Amino acid sequence: MIMALINWDDSLSVKINSIDDQHKKLIAMINDFYDGISKRSGQESVLKLILEMKNYTVVHFTNEEKIMRQVNYPDFDSHKKLHENFIAKVVELETKIKSGKLVISLEITTFLKDWLKNHIMVIDKKYSDYFMRKGIN
Ligand SMILES: [Fe+2]
Ligand SMILES: [Fe+2]
Repeated sequence: MIMALINWDDSLSVKINSIDDQHKKLIAMINDFYDGISKRSGQESVLKLILEMKNYTVVHFTNEEKIMRQVNYPDFDSHKKLHENFIAKVVELETKIKSGKLVISLEITTFLKDWLKNHIMVIDKKYSDYFMRKGIN
C-alpha cells in the first residue's frame, strides 16, 4: 500500500457515527483509486474504481438526504443540489474517460479528494448539531 492520499482524523467527524462510517468508506475508496493510479494500473481497472466510488457516493448521498427529509433539515435543498452537482461532475469525468477524451490522472484523484474533504468539513458538518438534537446517531 502506497501512502494514503487522505487519512481519516477527528477533523472530518460529523459526530454522527453512521455517517462517519460512510465517509470513512468513501475516503478508503479514494485512497484505493489513488493507489491504482500510483501503481499505474490499467485505465480499465482504475475506471472500475471510479465507478465503485460513484455508486457508493450515490448510496451515501441518498442516505444523508433521507435523514435530512426525516428531520426537516432547513438546508435540504441547497445541500441536495451540491450532491447532484458532484455526481454530474463525476459522470462527466467518467464519460470523457470512456470516450478517450480524458486520461485518468492524479489531478482527478485530487479533485475527488478535495471535493469530498471540503464537503464533509464545510457542508456536512453544518447538520451535526441539528441531527444530534433530533436523535440521529
Ligand atoms: Fe456526506
Ligand atoms: Fe453531504
